[in-house]
Amino acid sequence: MKFFTALIALTSVAFAAPSSQPQQDESSKRAAWPNGPFVTQGRYIRDTTGKNLTYAGTNWPGHNDVMFPEGLQYQSIEFIVQKIKSIGMNAVRLTFAIQMIDEIYSNGGKDITIQQALVQALGQANGAKILGQILAKNPRFTASTTRLQVFDAVAEELSKQQILIHLDNHISKGMWCCSADDGNTWFGDRYFSVANWTRGLAYMADNGKSWPGLVSIGLRNELREPSNNQAVKNTYNWQTWYTYMKQAAQAVNNANKDLLIFLSGLNYDTFINPVFEGTALTPGNGRFSFNDFPGYANKLVLEIHNYETGINSCSSLQNNLYSRGFKAMSSSAVNVFPVMLTEFGFAMDATTYRNTYASCLSTYLPSQKAGWTIWVLAGSYYIRSGRQDYDEDWGMLNHDWSNWRQPAYINGPFTSMVRGTLN
Ligand SMILES: *[C@@H]1O[C@H](CO)[C@@H](O)[C@H](O)[C@H]1NC(C)=O
Ligand SMILES: *[C@@H]1O[C@H](CO)[C@@H](O)[C@H](O)[C@H]1NC(C)=O
Repeated sequence: MKFFTALIALTSVAFAAPSSQPQQDESSKRAAWPNGPFVTQGRYIRDTTGKNLTYAGTNWPGHNDVMFPEGLQYQSIEFIVQKIKSIGMNAVRLTFAIQMIDEIYSNGGKDITIQQALVQALGQANGAKILGQILAKNPRFTASTTRLQVFDAVAEELSKQQILIHLDNHISKGMWCCSADDGNTWFGDRYFSVANWTRGLAYMADNGKSWPGLVSIGLRNELREPSNNQAVKNTYNWQTWYTYMKQAAQAVNNANKDLLIFLSGLNYDTFINPVFEGTALTPGNGRFSFNDFPGYANKLVLEIHNYETGINSCSSLQNNLYSRGFKAMSSSAVNVFPVMLTEFGFAMDATTYRNTYASCLSTYLPSQKAGWTIWVLAGSYYIRSGRQDYDEDWGMLNHDWSNWRQPAYINGPFTSMVRGTLN
């Protein structure tokens, strides 16, 4: 978010079964939903039954200052997941911050508690108050529950209600994302240690082996050029991008062979052309090659974002999406991939959803059978940009996460877009 077949099944199982786990466990796990692990074939994602599938879902942030999923002071996890399920969405992009994993490492391998996390982010009084509300709504938790255990509980419920989970590394330091001067922009920026990042990705990929619904992970949200760090700015290019994305993809694959790996582009993930066009990754002459992802070339998906909310021509918007990313799903791409629009969104008021941007997407996305996750589920945040209980006027849910903020849109065009995408 800126500014702000039998043979096939057999082959897949043989391909992906981690050597460390008993074969029995693996095959019983795969006999059931979600029929993973997923693989790509050309522009499609396929499950082990040979069915093509994509995502129609929403973003559930867990990367802000407290670094665990939002909304739990207002509603139970079961209630929130039921809301997602009620309109047919099949996926959640669950965001996390690398700082959470850094702190697990500095704390001797154990995550800090939600009590500590809330007090650190909200102060003693408000931290205690919000903790009380979370425990009242979610009695399975206690003051000593850790942040990672909250992620595990959210993942458990999403899996139980058969919602696919896509993990997204949204930022390094836990806070609202993204700007050009927030220290999280690009590899080597103030808070963006490449070593911590790849370690954090591997940690979450490994931890997610116990989440039945986890099928994919996004390596990094909205890479961008820093405005306040000249040394890092000098390395902002596709060549650097490729060096580190290969490292991160390998770290994830080493940790968890089942996951699809999403690659995101430059300038807040608004374009990823050299990857599917097969042109030079400048300033060098190297080019993207599936051979650089040995043994898991069929795990790569591209993601882009679009926030051209003021656009007044649907054909311009379609052209922009196509030329900057969706073209990778066509036979005119040099390198063909599935593509997902993992962020788009707008103010959930009475009129905005009727504009060109929203109505164009609600027909174009289903027509392309492109997957997507809207920004954002959250009706409010524990804290965002220094303000506690921040109201999210782009939220699908209202402030206390009890109902849709704009039911006319969610029950109307949005539900049609979900059905159109998944049918
Ligand atoms: C499903 O994916 C395969 C490639 O894996 C493709 O050949 C086929 O056309 C797709 N089917 C549908 C209905 O899109
Ligand atoms: C990387 O993680 C270590 C803890 O293992 C932490 O001390 C350090 O500050 C982190 N680096 C950055 C740039 O956040």
